Amino acid sequence: MASFLWSLCLSFLFLVSGARSAQPKKPVDVQFGRNYVPTWAFDHIKYYNGGAEAQLILDKYTGTGFQSKGSYLFGHFSMHIKMVAGDSAGVVTAFYLSSQNTEHDEIDFEFLGNRTGQPYILQTNVFTGGKGNREQRIYLWFDPTKTYHTYSVLWNMYQIVFFVDDVPIRVFKNSKDIGVRFPFDQPMKIYSSLWNADDWATRGGLEKTDWSKAPFIASYKGFHVDGCEASVNAKFCATQGKRWWDQKAFQDLDAAQYKRLKWVRQKYTIYNYCTDRVRFPTTPVECKRDRDI
Ligand SMILES: *[C@@H]1O[C@H](CO)[C@@H](O)[C@H](O)[C@H]1NC(C)=O
Repeated sequence: MASFLWSLCLSFLFLVSGARSAQPKKPVDVQFGRNYVPTWAFDHIKYYNGGAEAQLILDKYTGTGFQSKGSYLFGHFSMHIKMVAGDSAGVVTAFYLSSQNTEHDEIDFEFLGNRTGQPYILQTNVFTGGKGNREQRIYLWFDPTKTYHTYSVLWNMYQIVFFVDDVPIRVFKNSKDIGVRFPFDQPMKIYSSLWNADDWATRGGLEKTDWSKAPFIASYKGFHVDGCEASVNAKFCATQGKRWWDQKAFQDLDAAQYKRLKWVRQKYTIYNYCTDRVRFPTTPVECKRDRDI
């Protein structure tokens, strides 16, 4: 009987610890103006429900964009976005973090539109110390124009994770010990924009933007920012090591998350710089640790 109780107790403990997930803290939806300001073409952003929703508009005159009020060193940044529907060939929607100096750090989501009924491409990239060339391209497992989906970045001392809804689609681990720069001392702002990129975006620039279909509209909600706010020149975060994203559960993906990452790699990858032997005769050193190969 005692051993039965003991094993019951053990399996309960196992369940509890097994259930502890490394999903980032659930984002809290706020209004646009709480965390963001327009950057350019102010009249091409429209607000609804008191700013709970915003639409970016691209027409033949201009696209538009917005940026976070604050600069941040680490945290979790997410947005619900509904991409331009219908014929969006040539149109790019971006959501990214970037520092402001010459040897800049950047974490990018770029959504490349397509002709009606043809799939979007999601391109991601990571720049550290001014060096990028780490493109990955995937198809999504849903139509991003039909409903809102959540795109987010978790950034701490240990890793950068790109999430689409709950699925980690990419991880960039801190590989400083093997000679790869990692963003840790340059605060970043968050940006988003919608613009015409028909010189490269769709089928490598073959498909041009059809201006008879303008205006092109991308819709946004959420505007969640949970970061360590720092002045642009700060070298460290005042609460470094004490926030939820610094804790053990967020220092690496768990087994279930690596499994999902692998699923994305195997089923949806179009391009991966890690396997491009033409550009990189030897595999970039971070690729193995990031489980990109
Ligand atoms: C657009 O659709 C074509 C044809 O299905 C596809 O080859 C391409 O990858 C799609 N996406 C982009 C952004 O070009």
